[in-house]
Amino acid sequence: MKVLVTRKVFPESIEALQKRFEVVTNPDDAPWSPDQIAERLAGCSAAMSTVLCKFDEAVFARNPQLKVVSNIAVGYNNIDVASATRRGIRVTNTPGVLDDTTADLTWSLLMAAARRIAEADAYVRRGDWKVAFGMHSFLGVDIHHATLGIIGMGRIGQAIARRALGFDMRVLYHNRTALPAGDEKRLNAVRVERDELLARADFVVVMVPYSQATHHLIGAAELAKMKPGAILVNTARGGVVDDAALAQALKDKRIAGAGLDVFEGEPKLNAAYLGLPNVVLTPHIGSATRATRLRMCETAIANLTAVLDGRTPPNLVNKELA
Ligand code: DGY
Repeated sequence: MKVLVTRKVFPESIEALQKRFEVVTNPDDAPWSPDQIAERLAGCSAAMSTVLCKFDEAVFARNPQLKVVSNIAVGYNNIDVASATRRGIRVTNTPGVLDDTTADLTWSLLMAAARRIAEADAYVRRGDWKVAFGMHSFLGVDIHHATLGIIGMGRIGQAIARRALGFDMRVLYHNRTALPAGDEKRLNAVRVERDELLARADFVVVMVPYSQATHHLIGAAELAKMKPGAILVNTARGGVVDDAALAQALKDKRIAGAGLDVFEGEPKLNAAYLGLPNVVLTPHIGSATRATRLRMCETAIANLTAVLDGRTPPNLVNKELA
């Protein structure tokens, strides 16, 4: 059976696949369009893909032999799951293995934005640091004892909340379902309505999947509800935050800062961000450690192999097909 791997992965992952399957790779690591994916999928029973490889209705229509799309990601908004389900194509993801790594990156951005790390680093490198100590230079905001608001309290949201305990923070969260009382107590977390969270939090972190329902979940109206000194962090998905509205709010100093790892239409980003000192930008690296990315590939391979062996994969997204 033939497997298409749509982006470059680790040699050991390709070797693991080659033990069982014929493998078609993307050695240049070029981000293929849906049309190119459809073409290269010819004769393949499975695809192993990353977050920006689009699998739409047309890709599936041209590849009726396809049995599974195994995303090397917890998110799967690059895949038209409804269309895959109609055609009996399994979609799988890699939940669990990247929670802590993504929580770490979320905290890196939160802390970098709060303490103006990127701005200060650029200042030192430019040779602008001429006076040894300035009482007023690079004043940031305190993280310890502040209030952290988390919108989306799934596994990653909870991993972010766990880290807040070390900073003696209060945690507010907004989520469809409440955590069990024991978990709330352990995390020192209180469930509130979204508007209350926006009004009270010093740091707002969004950690929800992207869908029509979460499109521009944070826009001009929500930014207007945040404290003027607050910082917004998005390590979830581009499109959850309205980039134009956020850039304007940062420019107007409506909020103090932001840390962003994901963008609408990435890798392109709203040009206004580039001129703003109060936003820290990273290129979608939430899960980017070697150990985690390897585990994600291993999980994706296990999912794909299960489907091709006729078993229910451990991380089936379209559960109707179990
Ligand atoms: C995911 O897993 O959805 C990330 O965005 C990719 O690391």
